[in-house]
Formats: sequence, C-alpha cells, structure tokens
Amino acid sequence: MRRYIVAGNWKMHKTAEEAVNLALALIPLVSDVRSVEVVLCPPFTALPSVGEVLNGSGLFLGAQNMHHEPQGAYTGEISASMLLPLGVSHVILGHSERRHYFIESDPQIREKVGAALQAGLTPILCVGETLAEREAGETESVVSGQLEGCLEGIELAQAEDLVVAYEPVWAIGTGKTATLEQAQEVHALIRAKLTQFFGVDLAGKIRIQYGGSVKPENAAELMAQPDIDGALVGGASLDADSFAAIVRSV
Ligand code: 13P
Repeated sequence: MRRYIVAGNWKMHKTAEEAVNLALALIPLVSDVRSVEVVLCPPFTALPSVGEVLNGSGLFLGAQNMHHEPQGAYTGEISASMLLPLGVSHVILGHSERRHYFIESDPQIREKVGAALQAGLTPILCVGETLAEREAGETESVVSGQLEGCLEGIELAQAEDLVVAYEPVWAIGTGKTATLEQAQEVHALIRAKLTQFFGVDLAGKIRIQYGGSVKPENAAELMAQPDIDGALVGGASLDADSFAAIVRSV
C-alpha cells in the first residue's frame, strides 16, 4: 500500500512570520490524519521557523529547490547539507516554474535528484507538458523524456524514496484541472516508465502526485484514481482551511 502524500508548495508567498501563522493554523486541522504524509514547503527564509513549529507535529518540512553540490561558489544557492539541519525531509525538484523561468534542464534536475537521494532527502520530481505540447499530441513523449532525463543512472536502492509529481503546466494556477481520465492516463504512463527503469515491485511503491489547480472540491475524485497517490498543491495550500480540506478528503 502506498501512503498518500499531500504537499503544499507555497512558492514565493509568505514572510517567515506569516508562514509560521499558516503552519500553526494548519497543524490542529490535519495532525490527526495518519493515513496521509503531509508536507509543507515554505520559501527558504521560512524553513527554520516553520521547522520549529512542525517539530513533533507529524507533518513534514519540504524545500522548493536545492543545488546539487554540497557547497561552493554558487551565489544565491542552497545545498542539501544546509537544509537537513533545519528538519527538511523533502525537496521539490524540477518544478515547471524552475524549468520555465530559470531554464533548469533535465540534466541539471537529474544532478539534484541524485544529490537529494544521496543526502537522505525525498525528492519530489515534477514533470508535465505545456498546453502546446498536449495539443500537438506530445504529452507522452514529453513526460517520458523528462523522466528519462531526470532519472538516468539513479540507483535502484535509492529509488524507493522518490516521489514523482505530474503537473500539467496548463493546469497550474489556471483553475483548469486535468480531467480524471487525463490525469490517470499520464499517471499510468509514469508508472509504466518507472517499471521500465526500476522493475515492477519498486515502481509499485513510488508515489505519484497530481498537481495543477487541486482544490477541496476535486481532490477526492482525483485521489481515487488507481495511480494517483497524492497531490502537490499550490494556491489552495496558502489557506489553512482549503489545504486541510484537501488532506482530509484524501
Ligand atoms: P496550483 O495548485 O496553484 O495550480 O499550483 C500547482 C503547483 O504548481 C504546485 O506545485
């Protein structure tokens, strides 16, 4: 049985103080839900204070990015070894906003996935097609290519800790959710690809989240699909009641 995983990607929202207040509002609403791994991913500047608040709550702390090197002359970057002492256990990698605005490539993301696994962090690897790619019938080749590029050479022994998030770019922040059929179809494709890489047993254990306009109203039916094991939530994770409702509906 795969344990559901619901993560809130707060993106570039919330000062440290606001982030603590959101975490404090959330904890009592979700900490009794044992069947779901709940991860909060505030901006870097709020990780220490949110980490303190989450301590002992049963909720997990995630970062939104990291550099693959442990240290070095990389101005503005943050490494796994800096995240770990803050209590960070998960890290979102290869989000479409990083790919689009910061020109992150599959080979770069692959380095990050490897470094995160090596450091004992759970990578949440994001993949997904743009609207133009979907309309051109390229969804399968785009998502397959991203998985190949980002997972090449990842060791079998480490892959169990991997989480994949399918986020169709056209569904992010647009209010347009993929239909249940569209989402399940790509999730099944991702599972098949993972099976090619890691074998059926391991691929059956890797969690695949759906992301893109997940709300309390659509979460339950998405999560009921056979290959959807959780959600990566943007906008709706910035409100304690909405995010808690999504976690509880799972
Ligand atoms: P929205 O839930 O706001 O569509 O964002 C999804 C997302 O990008 C999560 O990483």
